[in-house]
Amino acid sequence: MKIKACLFDLDGVVVDTAKYHYLAWKKIADDLGFDFSELDNERLKGVSRMESLDILLEIGKIKVDLRTKEELADTKNSLYVSYIQKMTPEEILPGVIRFLDELRANGILIALGSASKNAMTILDKIDIVQKFDVVIDGNKVSKAKPDPEVFLKGAIELGVEPHECLVFEDAQAGIDAARNGGMYIIGIGKPENLTNADYIIPGFATMNLDQLRSWYS
Ligand code: G6P
Ligand code: MG
Repeated sequence: MKIKACLFDLDGVVVDTAKYHYLAWKKIADDLGFDFSELDNERLKGVSRMESLDILLEIGKIKVDLRTKEELADTKNSLYVSYIQKMTPEEILPGVIRFLDELRANGILIALGSASKNAMTILDKIDIVQKFDVVIDGNKVSKAKPDPEVFLKGAIELGVEPHECLVFEDAQAGIDAARNGGMYIIGIGKPENLTNADYIIPGFATMNLDQLRSWYS
């Protein structure tokens, strides 16, 4: 098989934290006096905290100075952190642990590549840190997806070449990041929402190494 390493996004791939991001951003929108729907929230998937705030303010047609923006981002993050403190291993999405164990048992390297600065907190809460050989999160990169930095750093730390890497991503920005980095990509979600992945799967429930071997031999 061409694949020597698998790199996983966190939010929407390993766990569903989009609902917590949504609740926190919705509180900010409520306080500012405008509606923020779950459909609007789709635009924030895979997007960094400050870029998410820019999109939120654009939806609310609100302009604020830099200091206020920083305060709003801090308030959103405090709320978000209070939600993820309560996360448990039961929130790991179906099939993820089995698939990670199958990869490790077969010598495939595993990295996390997430834009989130809260990734380590989540990994601790859901007790999954030990399943990853390398963790690259939002504290280790300066360029947000679709820049490939997060995945390229993962490949370097794992000691593999980009063309030996397969990325699992639920957000278009992440798929574009993997593509920009010269990696293989499997999208997680619905084909109508994602373009430019090699394959799209609904999740890991039916995913296994035999499937990977048949796609990437
Ligand atoms: C992930 C999520 C985004 C989130 C970003 C930053 O990419 O999909 O919705 O904005 O991480 O997360 P953070 O925890 O650093 O605010
Ligand atoms: Mg994601």
